[in-house]
Amino acid sequence: MAELKRFSRKEIAEQSTSKQALFIIQNQVYDVTKFLDDHPGGHEVLLDVIGKDASTDFNDIGHSSDAKDLMKKYHIGEVIDEDKITYQKAKVAWDDSDETGESANDSFLNSWKFPVVLGLLMTVLYTYIFG
Ligand code: HEM
Repeated sequence: MAELKRFSRKEIAEQSTSKQALFIIQNQVYDVTKFLDDHPGGHEVLLDVIGKDASTDFNDIGHSSDAKDLMKKYHIGEVIDEDKITYQKAKVAWDDSDETGESANDSFLNSWKFPVVLGLLMTVLYTYIFG
């Protein structure tokens, strides 16, 4: 396999044109010029991130392992050490901390006791009236 080329982030930004479509994913450089029209997600999304770091966009989609395999075909190099960044693991965006699941049962009307008591009451009433 050919030696990996090294690029600064500035070079990626400058060298990316409609004729050469480069972007960065996890500090690795990809040339997707020939892939634009074959990308199942369409060429627009790729053109949007040309010259940029597309790591977040790429991960947000949740690409399959097939897609990750396919990436190797377009891998042409990596970002120089000075320009490498550490990527944060994606965080879960929602916060369900105030839904304890128990608060809904605090009220008698919402708890399981209400239908049970209602049932008993109906039974007593039924026996009283028709018994
Ligand atoms: C070399 C890089 C890339 C490769 C090889 C690649 C490959 C693929 C493949 C094979 C799929 C089909 C679904 C799957 O197998 O996951 C896909 C879907 C998609 N990709 Fe990519 N992709 C790349 C980069 C990107 C980037 C940088 C973005 C966003 C900026 C992107 C956005 C999408 C979207 C929106 C879909 C459609 C998802 C859907 O229909 O649910 N892709 N890509």
